[in-house]
Amino acid sequence: MNFHILTLFPEMVMNGLNTSIIGRAVNAGHLSIEAVNIRDYAFNKHQSVDDYPYGGGAGMLMQAEPVYLAHEAVAEKIRSRKGAAGHGETDRRFRTVYLSPQGSVFDQKMAENLAQEEDLILLCGHYEGIDERVLEEIVTDYVSIGDYVLTGGELPAMVMVDAISRLVPGVLHNDVSAEFESFQDSLLEYPQYSRPEEWHGKKVPPVLLSGHHANIEKWRREQSIIRTYERRPDLLEKCELTEKEKKWFREWLEENM
Ligand code: ADE
Repeated sequence: MNFHILTLFPEMVMNGLNTSIIGRAVNAGHLSIEAVNIRDYAFNKHQSVDDYPYGGGAGMLMQAEPVYLAHEAVAEKIRSRKGAAGHGETDRRFRTVYLSPQGSVFDQKMAENLAQEEDLILLCGHYEGIDERVLEEIVTDYVSIGDYVLTGGELPAMVMVDAISRLVPGVLHNDVSAEFESFQDSLLEYPQYSRPEEWHGKKVPPVLLSGHHANIEKWRREQSIIRTYERRPDLLEKCELTEKEKKWFREWLEENM
């Protein structure tokens, strides 16, 4: 999968993504990540990319043309690799995400959906935003990473690249772990323990030492349900429990409430 990040701060994005699992996946060829500096597409000699908003108001806006040219440069590369031409209307054969608090809130389902793309363009705004006209021409998806306002789209873009990349085949060494972790099936992950068997007087739950795989699986599933109920009850509503699990959970509630 190829990520193309349009930004005024390319080093920030690349420095944040070249370490650990994502950095390794890039080196191994499972992913490519490029940060394109929008300032390189400034059309005046001062290389400025911002200007005052018409109608007044606080702050500066990113101008349409540099954003458009930076996007067009990336789009052209993708089109030529795909062996297809076509200008004019928004090209829907690849998606361009604008990171904005006004977007749909990013979640695991959206990450799974975007992980199917071969190319993904992420557009990071700064200052008070970007001239609306260029957004209308190039953006296919508006995405927020949560209901708070950041100073720019770079951190949200990095969050998206991280969450999407770990779903790309080969990025995590064991594909099982991407499948079974938090949020799969809308349940949070069960608690985990490693050596020693006793630490600060706390013992590892005996079932985990039993070697009985079916019991361990059952215990983990139950712990996931309890944990989701306690920490994110909103997620539990979306989760499909079996009749047996529903019965067990009713009994657990009676005992523990
Ligand atoms: N830009 C500023 N705040 C943001 C947020 N919460 N999500 C995505 N992009 C943003």
